[in-house]
Amino acid sequence: MAKVKTSFFCQNCGTQFTKWQGQCSACKEWNTIVEEIIQKEEKKSWKSPDMSSKRTSKPLKINEIDGSQEMRITSGDNEFNRVLGGGIVPGSVTLLGGEPGIGKSTLLLQIALQLPVKTLYVSGEESQKQIKMRAERIHPNSENCYILTETKTQNIFKQAENINPDILVIDSIQTLHSDYIESSAGSISQIRECTSELIKFAKESGTPVILIGHITKDGNIAGPKILEHMVDTVLQFEGDRNHVYRILRALKNRFGSTAELGIYEMQGSGLREVSNPSEILISNHDQDLSGTAIAATLEGMRPLMIEIQALVSTAVYGTPQRSTTGYNVKRLNMLLAVLEKRAGFKLGAKDVFLNITGGITVDDPAIDLAVIAAILSSNEDIPIEKDICFAAEIGLAGEIRPVQRVDQRIMEAEKLGFATIFVSKHNKISVKNPQIQLKLVSRIEDVVRELFG
Ligand code: TYD
Ligand code: MG
Repeated sequence: MAKVKTSFFCQNCGTQFTKWQGQCSACKEWNTIVEEIIQKEEKKSWKSPDMSSKRTSKPLKINEIDGSQEMRITSGDNEFNRVLGGGIVPGSVTLLGGEPGIGKSTLLLQIALQLPVKTLYVSGEESQKQIKMRAERIHPNSENCYILTETKTQNIFKQAENINPDILVIDSIQTLHSDYIESSAGSISQIRECTSELIKFAKESGTPVILIGHITKDGNIAGPKILEHMVDTVLQFEGDRNHVYRILRALKNRFGSTAELGIYEMQGSGLREVSNPSEILISNHDQDLSGTAIAATLEGMRPLMIEIQALVSTAVYGTPQRSTTGYNVKRLNMLLAVLEKRAGFKLGAKDVFLNITGGITVDDPAIDLAVIAAILSSNEDIPIEKDICFAAEIGLAGEIRPVQRVDQRIMEAEKLGFATIFVSKHNKISVKNPQIQLKLVSRIEDVVRELFG
C-alpha cells in the first residue's frame, strides 16, 4: 500500500515543516502547526516534453515584445475599475480580502450583475436561492450572470468549460477543495493547490479570475501570505462595520498603481459608488460649531476633504485622557506637546478627544494643522469659519512644514467652494491665479493670530 504522504503546515503563515513542533519558527505563533495529507499526482519532470503547456516561450529582445496594451474588461463600477488600474486584465487573478460581513460577496455579486460580459459566480458559502435573494436587492435582472454552488475545483473547471465565461468569480477560496489533495478545505495546502489550479486556468484560458479571501483576526488574508505572492492583484475591502462607508484599496497590483482608492456606501440595495467623497466626509450643520476644522488630505491619488472634530475639556481625574478615532494617538500627543511648548497652551490639565468623521482612518501628516486648529478652536470655544481648510504638517519645533502635492489639494478645496486654505510658506505652489485665498504660514503663532485674533 502506498504510504500516505503528509506534511506539517503553520496555519498562520503557511510555512511547511517536516515534523510537528509547538511553535512556528517562522512567525513565532504557538499551536498553529497542523499535519495535512498531501497526496499529489506524480510530478512531471521539468524536462519532459509534455510539461511545456500550449504556449512555448522563448527569449525575445525586449523591444521585439508586443507592447500594445491588453484590452481590459471594464465593469460598470468606476471605483472598481480605477482601483484595478483601468479594468480587469484578461488572464489575471485578483484576490479580494476583507473581514467577514464587510460586503465582499455583495461587491463582487454586484459587479458580476453589472458586467456586460458573461460571468460565472461560484459560491461555496451560500445557496443559489440565497444569492438570488441578494441579487434581487441589488440589481433585479441580468442576462449574463451564471450562479454555481460548488466547492470542488475540478467540477468548477468542467462547468466553466461548458459555459465558457468571460470572468470567473470564486466566493471564497477557503471553501474550495481539490481532489489532488486530501486535506480539508481551508487548510494551507488546499488553499495553495486550489489557487495554483485557478491561476493555471486563468493563464491558459485567458479568463480573469477574482477570488474572495477571508482575513484572520489580525488582519491578514487567512492562511496565506503565500496567496498574496501567487496572485496578480490583491485588493482589500475595509471599513468600520458600524459605519456605512467602505474603502477598496489595492495592496498589490501588477497592472496598475496601488495608490488608488475606491469609496462605497453600503445601502439597503447594495453598495453605492461614492464619486465625490469629500461631500460625505464633511458633515452639514447650520450653525458654526467650535472644535471642527477641515483638512485637505490625499487618499492615494485622490484629494479628499475630511472633517476633524476635537473636544477639549477640563480633566476630571489626575491623568488627562487622550482618545482618538481614526487618528494616531501618539501623533496627537506629539502635537499637544508642541502646542504646550511653542504656543503656551496649558493642555496638560485637559482631556482631549479627537475624531475623524465618516469612520475613516487617516495617516497623512498633512492633516496636522487641521488637528491643531480643531483643538485650539475647542479650547477657545471659537468656531472656525466653515469655508476655511488646512493642509500642512507640523514639525517638532512648531514649524509649519510643506506637504506633497499641495497643488492638487488647493485645487480640490477650490472646486468644493472653500474660500481660504492654510498652507506652509515653504511649499512650492504652481497653481496659477487661484480663486481660493492662500494663507501662507510658517509658525503656529501665525495661525492662531489669523484664526482667533
Ligand atoms: P456580505 O457581502 O455578505 O459580506 P462578506 O461577504 O464580506 O462576508 O455583506 C453582508 C453585509 O452587508 C450584511 O451585514 C448586510 C449588508 N448588506 C446591506 O446593507 N445591503 C445590501 O443590499 C446587502 C446585499 C447587504
Ligand atoms: Mg461572503
